[in-house]
Amino acid sequence: MSFDLQLRGQRALVTGGTKGVGAAVVQALVDAGVQVMATARSAPAHPIGGVLYVPADVSTAEGAAEVAQAVLTHWGGVDILVNVVGGSSAPGGGFAALDDAQWFNELNQNLMPAVRLDRALLPAMLAQGAGVIVHVSSIQRVLPLPESTTAYAAAKAALSTYSKALSKEVTPQGVRVLSVSPGWVETEAAVALAERVATQTGTDYEGGKQIIMQSLGGIPMGRPARPQEVADLITFLVSPRAGAISGSEHVIDGGTVPTV
Ligand SMILES: NC(=O)c1ccc[n+]([C@@H]2O[C@H](COP(=O)([O-])OP(=O)(O)OC[C@H]3O[C@@H](n4cnc5c(N)ncnc54)[C@H](OP(=O)(O)O)[C@@H]3O)[C@@H](O)[C@H]2O)c1
Repeated sequence: MSFDLQLRGQRALVTGGTKGVGAAVVQALVDAGVQVMATARSAPAHPIGGVLYVPADVSTAEGAAEVAQAVLTHWGGVDILVNVVGGSSAPGGGFAALDDAQWFNELNQNLMPAVRLDRALLPAMLAQGAGVIVHVSSIQRVLPLPESTTAYAAAKAALSTYSKALSKEVTPQGVRVLSVSPGWVETEAAVALAERVATQTGTDYEGGKQIIMQSLGGIPMGRPARPQEVADLITFLVSPRAGAISGSEHVIDGGTVPTV
């Protein structure tokens, strides 16, 4: 039995689309026949044929506006918006190490790009009475690590709550809004982190991974998710096959979150 995702010909913007989860989402959407525009600050190391790359820093209002304008100029609107961009550059050391600049930096990386791009691109979705918006959050929003992720986790919590509010507002008009919350994902950056931990603690790569997994309280599945697995989930969620799903959070963490 075939399981056609019915995505062929749709138009999608993917932020953070050159590395990690975002690059996997771009590839998965292209494979499903979607026309894709991707954005990041620098050009991809491995560009995917047919994808239009728009260079911009979406942590700024100007950068987000440039990306939205590129979408509207090129297509006049968009059917799918996958807000992947995010991450943390805050130092460890708990609350005292976080000054205002670091707090705003986390919000500008994890909350405001989605807020600004949604606001700029929703009018065209509402005009066509259809669209899907995905916000890539994190399980950190319910599992903050006080030594190192307080501001990142709080910014992701804000993103998840914003996602819910937006879904209540626009789902009646045909636009589905969802969030996807990964646990640890084995991106290139995650591999580099595990290698660094391994070197610092005198173990091998697998040992480095085990130390990171222990810091999260353990992953029952015994491994991080692969970027491709997160991309597959997102590709299903943006497809008409998931047409009854809106306003929900989809956790992909191998069982890391310990509560119901
Ligand atoms: N990896 C994990 O374990 C994990 C776990 C839970 C949630 N997440 C979330 O999943 C999402 C993807 O994470 P990832 O680990 O796959 O990320 P990643 O590998 O670090 O890639 C980040 C992407 O975003 C782009 N980017 C970063 N800052 C940008 C900016 N200011 N403006 C425009 N583009 C920017 C990067 O390209 P440039 O550097 O060239 O700009 C790159 O394409 C994030 O929202 C993250 O918080 C990740």
